[in-house]
Amino acid sequence: MEPAVTGTKNVMMAAAEAKVRRVVITSSIGAVYMDPNRSPDVVVDESCWSDLEYCKNTKNFYCYGKTVAEQGAWDLAKKKGVDLVVVNPMMVIGPLLQPTVNGSIMHILKYLNGAVKTYANAVQGYVHVRDVALAHIVVFETPSASGRYICYERMLHRGEVVEILAKFFPEYPIPTKCSDEKNPRKQPYKFTNQKIKDLGIKFIPVKQCLFETVKSLQENGHLTIPKKAKGCENLIRARY
Ligand SMILES: NC(=O)c1ccc[n+]([C@@H]2O[C@H](COP(=O)([O-])OP(=O)(O)OC[C@H]3O[C@@H](n4cnc5c(N)ncnc54)[C@H](OP(=O)(O)O)[C@@H]3O)[C@@H](O)[C@H]2O)c1
Repeated sequence: MEPAVTGTKNVMMAAAEAKVRRVVITSSIGAVYMDPNRSPDVVVDESCWSDLEYCKNTKNFYCYGKTVAEQGAWDLAKKKGVDLVVVNPMMVIGPLLQPTVNGSIMHILKYLNGAVKTYANAVQGYVHVRDVALAHIVVFETPSASGRYICYERMLHRGEVVEILAKFFPEYPIPTKCSDEKNPRKQPYKFTNQKIKDLGIKFIPVKQCLFETVKSLQENGHLTIPKKAKGCENLIRARY
């Protein structure tokens, strides 16, 4: 809450004081879709907001914090006359710049290092970190860009994620069973990424995102390469 809400407010105040041309904020899909009262038939677009009470009651303080932070930014933009554009990415994956593993990369790493034996019955949208960076540049540089931009390439069930990972990297102990074998496979909300696509973004395919994430984890020493897999580079590339 503190870095998200106060940090965003501080940036908006500083930007207003410095009279910057445009502010681009990294919000999240977490500020968009957490609303149990929306019908599953509704296509989730940039007009949707997460329900703060629901986030609080379900103790989802990441989504709560991002929603309060983004709403606060829009209020300040209006009050102070700041030209604000917001990017709302889904799960960001791809090569790491930082030396540590963050939350969204752990989401993939846990399927490779034996940390989990099953995958959840859940769905998530994914986007390559380079596309998220590009989205920020494009909304900054396009004068007509305004409002919010949902940013993702594709929705995948966890079962599809592990399937893709296992095809590229069969040498790891990737789970093959769902933790919930009673219920049918969860279906994703209907989302749209048309608004950002209309600004010319062509998303990197999710398979490539997953492949590059794992390669980066190996190259940065977060994931050991099993002996039998060494020398299989060409085979992996062929699958890819
Ligand atoms: N990763 C995703 O899937 C995802 C999806 C949607 C939106 N986002 C948003 O994208 C942004 C970056 O996320 P990320 O996944 O890249 O997170 P991350 O890897 O955990 O990086 C967070 C960054 O924020 C800095 N930071 C944390 N607390 C701070 C504080 N109190 N003061 C100053 N800096 C602070 C950290 O600095 P240090 O390196 O010095 O610790 C770090 O550079 C966040 O706003 C997040 O909500 C991420």
